[in-house]
Amino acid sequence: MFSMAAEPITPPVEVHHTQLLIDGKFVDSASGKTFPTLDPRTGEVIAHVAEADLEDVNRAVSAARKAFDEGPWPKMTGYERSHILYRFADLIEKHNDEIAALETWNSGKPYEHTSQKEVPLVTRLMRYYAGWADKIHGLTVPADGPYHVQVLHEPIGVAGQIIPWNFPLMMFAWKVGPALACGNTIVLKTAEQTPLSALYVSKLLHEAGLPAGVLNVVSGFGPTAGAAIASHMDIDKLVFTGSTVTGKIVLELAARSNLKPATLELGGKSPMIVMDDADIDQAVELAHFALFFNQGQCCCAGSRTFVHERVYDEFVEKSKAHALKRIVGDPFKNGVQQGPQVDEKQLNKIMHYIESGINSGATLVAGGNRIGNKGFYVQPTVFSDVKDEMAIAREDIFGPVQSILKFKDLDEIIRRANATEYGLAAGVFTNNMNTANTLMRALRVGTVWFNCFHVFDPTIPFGGYKMSGQGREKGIDSLKNYLQVKAVVTPLKNPAWL
Ligand code: NAI
Ligand code: MG
Repeated sequence: MFSMAAEPITPPVEVHHTQLLIDGKFVDSASGKTFPTLDPRTGEVIAHVAEADLEDVNRAVSAARKAFDEGPWPKMTGYERSHILYRFADLIEKHNDEIAALETWNSGKPYEHTSQKEVPLVTRLMRYYAGWADKIHGLTVPADGPYHVQVLHEPIGVAGQIIPWNFPLMMFAWKVGPALACGNTIVLKTAEQTPLSALYVSKLLHEAGLPAGVLNVVSGFGPTAGAAIASHMDIDKLVFTGSTVTGKIVLELAARSNLKPATLELGGKSPMIVMDDADIDQAVELAHFALFFNQGQCCCAGSRTFVHERVYDEFVEKSKAHALKRIVGDPFKNGVQQGPQVDEKQLNKIMHYIESGINSGATLVAGGNRIGNKGFYVQPTVFSDVKDEMAIAREDIFGPVQSILKFKDLDEIIRRANATEYGLAAGVFTNNMNTANTLMRALRVGTVWFNCFHVFDPTIPFGGYKMSGQGREKGIDSLKNYLQVKAVVTPLKNPAWL
């Protein structure tokens, strides 16, 4: 269902920050260059933002290096750091609606979602990591000998962080929260499509008391500013979210430069498995959400809907009805469930996959077309009769295209669900405890959602097996990305106990 206002709704926010944030100040790029950032509803320019390149990254790294080596950030107590992060969370909460409006304007996500779910989740996540800042401690370990052995957990240094456009602010929070809680300094590059929300909240973080140089934010492109971060000799740690193709490039750059350790969160082709005991209406709804949420632009989207043969036909009919009902339109309009895709490149990629699905013999049961010729809207699209070898069942489409496949039994579904180079997430819909227990261990993925999907609490670790990445973000596990472990051994003279 298409629900477009006659004219795009005017976003209830103004753009104030378009420069680079280096050493606590908003500055132009060294070259003076800018690039346009677009409104995906129309393809029109929202603002021109400063474009970082090597020289700007060098300046940002110098500022972060100095802020780390000389302080005050790593020399402050955990309690003091936690206080600043709590104040930051309060400021995000206070400016929730402006931040959400900026996020929607720049990315096309429904405003109801950014204002009621995503920005509040960012606030929650900052409070979670604020809570960790004074609870990071090492161990005293009982070595076999007269030694006093301590294991110190130290901040790792300057973190280089590169984030994507599908959850601009959430990705900022997943990276900045734990890095700051652990006492590190940062150079972060936003995605070229969506630079605005990170600049806005970074200003708030300084209002909350963050010292200059601790967080530096650069807008710019991958092969220039991004590559400069990944290959920088003075960055101690790389954390990246994006495509598997680019993940391999940055890992190689990290290895060829100073061998900085890397945490990577990459693509996926997650199975959403519907067993024959499932309540079909609920399963249809969940599988729809698993795929179409966020315009289908999720690394962990349930993009292979596997349905048991006994319920397959009914499931396809009901999924079609659901897709036809989905409300697509201006993301600022109340009730809209699906906004535009983020940019023309993504739109073209999705249209190419829809064509490939049709050509490879899948049955198009709903959608299949671009909507209008302005902005980047795509009809919610459903394919049935999808086979494992088709490109739409193997590759990361990153759009509102659901592929429904048929299976017969448990052994078969385990084999087929795991037959992918990815291993990010899986959804399973069943009420059978034995089926659930078998699948939770057999699926080679970082997250299994049973009878739910896309649950992103800050306490829950997230990351992938296989080519979906290395390491975990969120939860306690994310702290490990930002800490060095140092063993300290001292002989004990005449110890009272060992
Ligand atoms: P990308 O992986 O190329 O971009 C992600 C980030 O990496 C951006 O900040 C970009 O500027 C940066 N980057 C790109 N090339 C780089 C390089 N050579 N060195 C350092 N940094 C670099 O993803 P892109 O091109 O925006 O989207 C392509 C596809 O990637 C999407 O269609 C989707 O399939 C997948 N993707 C997956 C995401 C995830 O959450 N895992 C997020 C975004 C895209
Ligand atoms: Mg790319």
